[in-house]
Amino acid sequence: MLSGGLGTRLRPLTYTGAKQLVPIANKPVLFYALESLVAAGITEIAIVVGDTHAQIRAAVGDGSQFGARVTYIEQDAPRGIAHGIAIARDFLGDSPFVLFLGDNFLREGIVPYVERFRQGECNAQILLYPVPNPQDFGVAILEDGRVVRVVEKPREPPSDLAVIGIYMFDHHVFEIVPRLRPSARGELEITDTIQGLIDAGYRVEAPIVQGAWIDTGKKADMLEANRLILEILQRDVPAHVLDGDSQAHGKVVIAAEAQVVNSVIRGPAIIGPRTRIVNAYVGPFTSIDHDCEIVACEIEHSIVLEGTRLCDIPHRIEDSLIGRHVEIHRSPHKPKAYKLMLGDYSRVEVV
Ligand code: TTP
Repeated sequence: MLSGGLGTRLRPLTYTGAKQLVPIANKPVLFYALESLVAAGITEIAIVVGDTHAQIRAAVGDGSQFGARVTYIEQDAPRGIAHGIAIARDFLGDSPFVLFLGDNFLREGIVPYVERFRQGECNAQILLYPVPNPQDFGVAILEDGRVVRVVEKPREPPSDLAVIGIYMFDHHVFEIVPRLRPSARGELEITDTIQGLIDAGYRVEAPIVQGAWIDTGKKADMLEANRLILEILQRDVPAHVLDGDSQAHGKVVIAAEAQVVNSVIRGPAIIGPRTRIVNAYVGPFTSIDHDCEIVACEIEHSIVLEGTRLCDIPHRIEDSLIGRHVEIHRSPHKPKAYKLMLGDYSRVEVV
């Protein structure tokens, strides 16, 4: 599992937090990946961590909450995905393994692909997903079910099948990785690793993922992943959390310690523990994490992280990803003006 990297595309959230810990339906994106591995029978897991190692360790611990045993491997700088394989050499030994990028999200998990790899005769398996913009990805060229070439960001893509962030290798990968040289961007590239295996005559296969895949590196992708998970939640609204003037329609999950007062929640939506929703409207595809306060405002299709307070906002908030302990409120003081204290790379659209 790779959980280092810089996460530049999710700034400012990633100045203070690991991007793999940004929640989807109030659960860190990394946890979905860990659960997928465990569901596929993989319980010995190493997580490659970078600058944000303390937070990842605090969230995942020894892995027992997932039924796994988690070891941490520190990467001194983001030197590439294949560098992640190189530094996991001692942990991996000669066992076949799954390499899962911690920000990749496969809603239906990896069980059928791992089974196929276990039964198959191939030395590596890479997962493919049809995308509208293959020129931004590594693209695989297939012949008789085998990968014959992987081209990185092709100007004229040979197909729309992108190589995504879940790979399976046997020990032959360690014949290739030590020979890699850093690419133009200074990283040991996974594409070169796969091409190296093919050139050495090893068999690389590439099933096409059935079900939804998202690389959660950007705001729009996080919102999309959030939408996909909320859609399949089972309604769970403890009777005591809603007061007599409140309603929760459709697929709504509200934590037992939350409180909803004179408000409407229209699912799919999730409200975390100790969060208070007062005189507010929470619309479809919204996740509000724990210890938040949403007072006298309307919000939908958004993710709000823990400890945030939104109070008395005159316009509806939409398509937003709001970080931890953020405060947005209407000011009673004159002059009437926007008064902002925003981190670097914040994005605000005003009406
Ligand atoms: P990327 O999305 O390629 O890189 P990034 O996390 O630095 O993000 P950005 O492009 O926004 O700056 O990384 C994919 C995953 O692999 C991500 O979970 C981070 C992880 N990773 C490592 O752990 N070590 C590395 O050396 C690299 C390049 C990535």
